[in-house]
Amino acid sequence: MSDYDTTDAMLDAAWAQLDLGAQGPQTGTHWPVLATIDPEGRPQQRTLVLRGADRAAGMLTLMTDADSAKVRELRDRPRASVLTWDAESRLQLRLACTVTLRENDRDVWSGLGETARQNYGKTPPVGTEIAAPLDYEITPAPGNLAILRLTVESLEVLHLGETHRRAVFSRKEDWRGRWLSP
Ligand SMILES: Cc1cc2nc3c(=O)[nH]c(=O)nc-3n(C[C@H](O)[C@H](O)[C@H](O)COP(=O)(O)O)c2cc1C
Repeated sequence: MSDYDTTDAMLDAAWAQLDLGAQGPQTGTHWPVLATIDPEGRPQQRTLVLRGADRAAGMLTLMTDADSAKVRELRDRPRASVLTWDAESRLQLRLACTVTLRENDRDVWSGLGETARQNYGKTPPVGTEIAAPLDYEITPAPGNLAILRLTVESLEVLHLGETHRRAVFSRKEDWRGRWLSP
């Protein structure tokens, strides 16, 4: 017997991980990798902090600088892949998402502390070439906060326990699970 004998148990474990990941750094799921496609058609990946996970809606929330390359890429192609790995639970999650951008949200901005605000706004803008490593200023502004609302379309769970188990779920199949050979 394993905790992962049914696809429902795999899905429960996946959302429990995402929920925990959104609460703080106690799990690797706190730092998902977000992949987008750049204008040349090349995949681009980066680590972000998971800010929210809502199982009922099947949605995740991330936050970034509105000037960043990922925001431009998502405006062009509002699709992304999210990857997480947590060594303790031994769960890898791979999510295919569509992304909605929410910019200039003053309510969220007013709820952020000073330290958090410093992540949203640089002069020159993030990604601009500079002559020396510290040739930039931190210039926080609400217009620099971009909230990424990710609608999960499909979710693949891989559990590397004593046995290896892999299951896939999709929104269009109402999250009914299918086993895959791992
Ligand atoms: C542990 C860790 C957490 C990070 N969290 C965020 C984050 O929450 N939001 C963000 O925009 N960038 C975050 N970054 C920086 C991104 O990985 C990336 O370097 C930056 O956003 C620029 O990405 P882009 O040029 O592809 O848009 C984080 C990096 C690390 C290593």
